[in-house]
Amino acid sequence: MIKLAFPEIGDEEIKSIIKVIESKQLVMGKEVEQFENMIKEYLGVKHCFAVTSGTAALHLSMMALGIKPGDEVIVPAFTFPATANVVEVIGANVKFVDVNIEDYCINIEQVEAAINKHTKAIIVVHEFGYPVEMTPFNQLGKKYDLKIIEDAACALGSKNGNDFVGTQSDIGCFSLHPRKAITTGEGGLITTNNDEHAKIIKQLRNHGIDYESGKPRFVVPGLNYRMNNIQAAMGIAQFDKMSEILEKRSVLAEEYHKLLDGSDAFLLPRTRVDSKHSWQTYHIVLHDRINRDNVISVLKDNEIETNYGANAVHLEPYYFQKYKIDNLYNASKLFHQGLALPLHSGMDLADVIRVVKVLREIITFY
Ligand SMILES: Cc1ncc(COP(=O)(O)O)c(C=O)c1O
Repeated sequence: MIKLAFPEIGDEEIKSIIKVIESKQLVMGKEVEQFENMIKEYLGVKHCFAVTSGTAALHLSMMALGIKPGDEVIVPAFTFPATANVVEVIGANVKFVDVNIEDYCINIEQVEAAINKHTKAIIVVHEFGYPVEMTPFNQLGKKYDLKIIEDAACALGSKNGNDFVGTQSDIGCFSLHPRKAITTGEGGLITTNNDEHAKIIKQLRNHGIDYESGKPRFVVPGLNYRMNNIQAAMGIAQFDKMSEILEKRSVLAEEYHKLLDGSDAFLLPRTRVDSKHSWQTYHIVLHDRINRDNVISVLKDNEIETNYGANAVHLEPYYFQKYKIDNLYNASKLFHQGLALPLHSGMDLADVIRVVKVLREIITFY
């Protein structure tokens, strides 16, 4: 079976994890700080905190930026539901906006049209690792006094020019789930260049504790979203391989691009010369005449694992019952016709050639 995703884990990770377990220092140890420092230096960002998941990072971003019940946060309709869930669990309301069909990015004109007196923030998602250009969103944030959060769950390593995504706005959030380029099992990272945001994130991640007076004091109601030392040790070992993993993914994505080009059956993912894509997922959009779920099933019969890419979140039961929106057509089309193809560093070019060959055979029936 050619798997859709597969984490690259070797002896280095296993040895590092065992070392932590043997030390019996499982939490609040040097590994977490070391991992955070590595990521901080790599991204060129002032603050980075390791947390338990990408969702935890997003949840902390809402709390740290002071999003309150009754506020509105603009969210792309095409994403993983966590992007919207963190808004709702705060008691705020999601304002769904449609995405562009070419880059899956929230449409900036529609974002501006959706802003009203309740709007407090915009979450921009770098979907599948595609690096969204943040300058226009940051300008919008300034114009309307809104906070901008980058959901870079899939985008560790993606760049616009020389700037890493997740470092250009108020707060960046990354996931280290096993489907991402590097993983700590579950895990996440939250980044900011703002000292005030960093201070509150640090407190909220650790039960609301502040040590400034020398003694631990519970200064805000916080959570326990701390990454543990076992995860951080794994993250350090994974980070050492990250450049190589990203390079392999990029070579495979280029091969897909080359082999899939020129057919009216697929819309290929957008790339830009001035940017770097982490290729968390290689996602294509099938023509409306093709039954996507049938394609997934026939590929599976041929030992090739694929899946839909992301959700049209506004159509999921909770959100549809609450907001009753059904006219975000690009999000809906991407949810129904999107196809995530196998892409991981354990694959080689022959695997890509096989996936494309089988896929092309299937679509001749449509
Ligand atoms: C866009 C997006 N945001 C948030 C998340 C949540 O990350 P995690 O699974 O680490 O909680 C994901 C997970 O895949 C995601 O794709």
